[in-house]
Amino acid sequence: MKFSKLVKVTFVAAGLGAFVLATMAAASETKGKYFFKKNCKTCHTEGKSGKLVTPLTKTQAQWKQYFSAGKHDHGKEQLTKYLTPEQIQDVEAFLVAHASDSPQPETCGG
Ligand code: HEC
Repeated sequence: MKFSKLVKVTFVAAGLGAFVLATMAAASETKGKYFFKKNCKTCHTEGKSGKLVTPLTKTQAQWKQYFSAGKHDHGKEQLTKYLTPEQIQDVEAFLVAHASDSPQPETCGG
Protein backbone atom coordinates (compact mmCIF):
# COMPACT_ATOMS: atom_id res chain seq x y z
CA MET A 1 0.00 0.00 0.00
CA LYS A 2 1.29 3.46 -0.87
CA PHE A 3 2.05 5.73 2.05
CA SER A 4 -0.48 8.38 0.97
CA LYS A 5 -3.21 5.77 0.81
CA LEU A 6 -2.28 4.45 4.22
CA VAL A 7 -2.55 7.96 5.65
CA LYS A 8 -5.96 8.37 4.06
CA VAL A 9 -7.23 5.03 5.40
CA THR A 10 -5.94 5.88 8.87
CA PHE A 11 -7.76 9.22 8.80
CA VAL A 12 -11.03 7.67 7.72
CA ALA A 13 -10.75 5.01 10.43
CA ALA A 14 -9.99 7.62 13.10
CA GLY A 15 -12.91 9.74 11.95
CA LEU A 16 -15.26 6.79 12.09
CA GLY A 17 -14.01 5.87 15.56
CA ALA A 18 -14.60 9.39 16.82
CA PHE A 19 -18.08 9.39 15.30
CA VAL A 20 -18.99 6.09 16.98
CA LEU A 21 -17.69 7.34 20.33
CA ALA A 22 -19.61 10.60 20.02
CA THR A 23 -22.81 8.74 19.18
CA MET A 24 -22.38 6.38 22.09
CA ALA A 25 -21.70 9.20 24.54
CA ALA A 26 -24.76 11.24 23.58
CA ALA A 27 -27.71 10.56 25.85
CA SER A 28 -30.86 9.44 24.07
CA GLU A 29 -34.24 10.88 24.95
CA THR A 30 -36.01 8.03 23.16
CA LYS A 31 -34.17 5.38 25.13
CA GLY A 32 -34.70 7.45 28.27
CA LYS A 33 -38.46 7.40 27.79
CA TYR A 34 -38.31 3.63 27.40
CA PHE A 35 -36.22 3.10 30.53
CA PHE A 36 -38.33 5.55 32.53
CA LYS A 37 -41.54 3.71 31.63
CA LYS A 38 -40.01 0.28 32.10
CA ASN A 39 -37.96 0.83 35.28
CA CYS A 40 -39.22 3.92 37.09
CA LYS A 41 -42.97 3.86 36.43
CA THR A 42 -43.31 0.49 38.15
CA CYS A 43 -43.14 2.41 41.44
CA HIS A 44 -44.02 5.88 40.19
CA THR A 45 -47.67 5.73 39.23
CA GLU A 46 -50.63 6.89 41.32
CA GLY A 47 -51.10 4.64 44.33
CA LYS A 48 -47.68 2.96 44.12
CA SER A 49 -44.87 3.23 46.72
CA GLY A 50 -42.98 5.98 44.90
CA LYS A 51 -46.08 8.12 44.23
CA LEU A 52 -46.73 9.77 40.88
CA VAL A 53 -43.58 10.99 39.12
CA THR A 54 -43.69 12.32 35.54
CA PRO A 55 -41.42 14.67 33.58
CA LEU A 56 -43.74 17.46 34.81
CA THR A 57 -42.86 16.76 38.45
CA LYS A 58 -39.84 19.06 38.19
CA THR A 59 -38.47 21.95 36.12
CA GLN A 60 -35.50 21.43 33.81
CA ALA A 61 -33.14 22.95 36.39
CA GLN A 62 -34.59 20.77 39.16
CA TRP A 63 -34.16 17.56 37.13
CA LYS A 64 -30.55 18.47 36.29
CA GLN A 65 -29.89 19.12 39.95
CA TYR A 66 -31.60 15.86 40.94
CA PHE A 67 -29.51 13.79 38.55
CA SER A 68 -26.26 15.52 39.37
CA ALA A 69 -26.81 14.52 43.01
CA GLY A 70 -27.70 11.00 41.81
CA LYS A 71 -29.63 10.15 44.99
CA HIS A 72 -33.04 8.52 45.19
CA ASP A 73 -35.77 8.08 47.80
CA HIS A 74 -34.90 11.08 49.97
CA GLY A 75 -31.15 10.52 49.64
CA LYS A 76 -31.33 6.98 51.05
CA GLU A 77 -29.90 5.26 47.96
CA GLN A 78 -28.22 5.85 44.59
CA LEU A 79 -30.20 5.99 41.35
CA THR A 80 -27.72 3.42 40.02
CA LYS A 81 -29.59 0.86 42.11
CA TYR A 82 -32.17 0.75 39.30
CA LEU A 83 -30.30 1.55 36.07
CA THR A 84 -26.76 1.70 34.68
CA PRO A 85 -25.08 5.14 34.57
CA GLU A 86 -25.65 5.27 30.78
CA GLN A 87 -29.34 4.46 31.15
CA ILE A 88 -29.65 7.11 33.85
CA GLN A 89 -28.21 9.70 31.45
CA ASP A 90 -30.88 8.71 28.93
CA VAL A 91 -33.64 9.03 31.54
CA GLU A 92 -32.28 12.45 32.54
CA ALA A 93 -32.29 13.56 28.87
CA PHE A 94 -35.94 12.49 28.57
CA LEU A 95 -37.10 14.10 31.83
CA VAL A 96 -35.25 17.39 31.17
CA ALA A 97 -36.58 17.60 27.59
CA HIS A 98 -40.17 17.25 28.81
CA ALA A 99 -39.97 18.98 32.20
CA SER A 100 -42.74 21.31 33.39
CA ASP A 101 -40.99 24.42 32.00
CA SER A 102 -39.67 22.71 28.84
CA PRO A 103 -40.84 23.59 25.31
CA GLN A 104 -42.56 20.16 25.12
CA PRO A 105 -43.97 19.28 28.54
CA GLU A 106 -45.15 15.66 28.73
CA THR A 107 -46.80 13.51 31.37
CA CYS A 108 -45.64 10.14 30.06
CA GLY A 109 -49.05 8.53 30.43
CA GLY A 110 -49.92 9.74 33.92
C1 HEC B 1 -38.79 0.00 43.82
C2 HEC B 1 -39.60 1.18 43.63
C3 HEC B 1 -38.97 2.38 42.94
C4 HEC B 1 -38.34 2.44 41.71
C5 HEC B 1 -38.07 1.30 40.73
C6 HEC B 1 -38.00 3.83 41.49
N1 HEC B 1 -38.41 4.58 42.55
FE1 HEC B 1 -38.26 6.61 42.71
N2 HEC B 1 -39.02 6.53 44.62
C7 HEC B 1 -39.47 5.37 45.26
C8 HEC B 1 -39.90 5.71 46.61
C9 HEC B 1 -40.47 4.74 47.63
C10 HEC B 1 -39.70 7.12 46.75
C11 HEC B 1 -40.05 8.00 47.96
C12 HEC B 1 -41.47 8.46 47.79
C13 HEC B 1 -41.93 9.35 48.93
O1 HEC B 1 -41.74 10.57 48.83
O2 HEC B 1 -42.49 8.81 49.87
C14 HEC B 1 -39.15 7.59 45.49
C15 HEC B 1 -38.85 8.91 45.21
C16 HEC B 1 -38.50 9.40 43.97
C17 HEC B 1 -38.45 10.81 43.62
C18 HEC B 1 -38.78 11.97 44.57
C19 HEC B 1 -37.51 12.57 45.15
C20 HEC B 1 -36.71 11.58 45.99
O3 HEC B 1 -35.83 10.91 45.42
O4 HEC B 1 -36.97 11.46 47.17
C21 HEC B 1 -38.04 10.88 42.31
C22 HEC B 1 -37.83 12.13 41.47
C23 HEC B 1 -37.86 9.51 41.84
N3 HEC B 1 -38.17 8.65 42.87
C24 HEC B 1 -37.43 9.18 40.58
C25 HEC B 1 -37.20 7.86 40.16
C26 HEC B 1 -36.59 7.51 38.89
C27 HEC B 1 -36.10 8.52 37.86
C28 HEC B 1 -36.57 6.16 38.83
C29 HEC B 1 -36.01 5.28 37.72
C30 HEC B 1 -34.57 5.38 37.52
C31 HEC B 1 -37.15 5.65 40.07
N4 HEC B 1 -37.50 6.71 40.85
C32 HEC B 1 -37.35 4.30 40.36
C33 HEC B 1 -39.52 4.11 44.70
C34 HEC B 1 -39.00 3.73 43.48
